Amino acid sequence: MTMNLLFSPIQVGPLTLPNRIVMAPMSRTRANAEGAMGSVNAEYYSQRAQAGLIVSEAAWISLQGRGLDHSPGICSPDHVAGWKRVVDAVHAKGGRIFAQLWHCGRVSSPHLLDGALPVAPSPIAALGRIRTPEGFRNFPTPRMLEIAEIRGIVADFERAAKNAQEAGFDGVELHAGGGYLLDQFLQTGSNIRRDRYGGMSANRCRFLFETAEAVAGIWGADRVGVKLSPSNRDFGMIDADPQIVFSKAVSGLSAMGIAYIHMMEPSESDLAEGDVLRDNAQRFRRQFKGKMMAGGGFDLAKAQTILENDGADMVSFGRLFIANPDLPERFRAGKPLNAPDPETFYGGGSEGYTDYPILESHPYMRLID
Ligand SMILES: Cc1cc2nc3c(=O)[nH]c(=O)nc-3n(C[C@H](O)[C@H](O)[C@H](O)COP(=O)(O)O)c2cc1C
Repeated sequence: MTMNLLFSPIQVGPLTLPNRIVMAPMSRTRANAEGAMGSVNAEYYSQRAQAGLIVSEAAWISLQGRGLDHSPGICSPDHVAGWKRVVDAVHAKGGRIFAQLWHCGRVSSPHLLDGALPVAPSPIAALGRIRTPEGFRNFPTPRMLEIAEIRGIVADFERAAKNAQEAGFDGVELHAGGGYLLDQFLQTGSNIRRDRYGGMSANRCRFLFETAEAVAGIWGADRVGVKLSPSNRDFGMIDADPQIVFSKAVSGLSAMGIAYIHMMEPSESDLAEGDVLRDNAQRFRRQFKGKMMAGGGFDLAKAQTILENDGADMVSFGRLFIANPDLPERFRAGKPLNAPDPETFYGGGSEGYTDYPILESHPYMRLID
């Protein structure tokens, strides 16, 4: 029976996840102005501890990597202390949580960077607009990174990975999707470098591989996941031949022994843009010896289908987890779901954050409370 698959345990590196339902990383911009998490964030994540695995919202690895006001950082002692409260609260409820490590690259603005220009592989602006104190503005043309700076960013990722360990996380996920810095290096629409970090696909994958290796040096590759989104068209992302570069990325990460790939399927808006790769988890699965986590637009039925067809090992849920802290229990019991309210996705306080109701008479919550 399909239900058994979603609720059958799975081994991810040294961790045994009790089910295959993953909470997707989601920025909720409720950290303080300096990027430190606090008690309301600990409550939010611990409410969702039934997930087989929680992936935290993206946390910037350096001030240069910031791209969103009130998003959390993971590069100062205060950041580590804040995250430790979150992690401890999740562990106290029996959950597991990975930290998502993030550098926004060109998807940022000087007002978030002490006046500096955002950095990127090449001086090509992200498509779209960003909210600034003066109103919405087009993304600025970023400054091209020097080779020595790229090494410095790898070191920043490594330090952030150490910080995640200090905060007590169970592992880390590199955000190499979504149109952010690691993704910007992968794709030809944002990377037109002529040095060893640009050009052929092996060169465009170099920064990702160096970062993954550095982070695996801290955690062990079997506690490191990587998020990829080959079909994503947000911020004007595009590649001349995504099948080639993402195959290269997946097989390189496989050789490294990376624990899982969090593979995004196209969204409605990606599909509206036209010619994009589909069925990515299934498409790249045979090239990867770790676990394949599929994400993007899944509900219970779609999740059951992809697991049943052996198209993925696990499935991540984003917006459904915002609205349903007890999503696994609702799936298991076949109960109706609360609808997410996009108005409260970003910013604000506990409204739309920690106040979504759980099922009454909840056997699991009774057990662990
Ligand atoms: C409010 C919000 C914030 C998000 N922030 C992040 C993030 O910090 N890191 C990330 O990798 N993806 C982020 N995403 C994308 C989600 O992880 C997920 O891939 C996406 O919502 C599609 O899954 P869904 O259809 O199950 O919601 C965010 C999505 C939402 C709705």
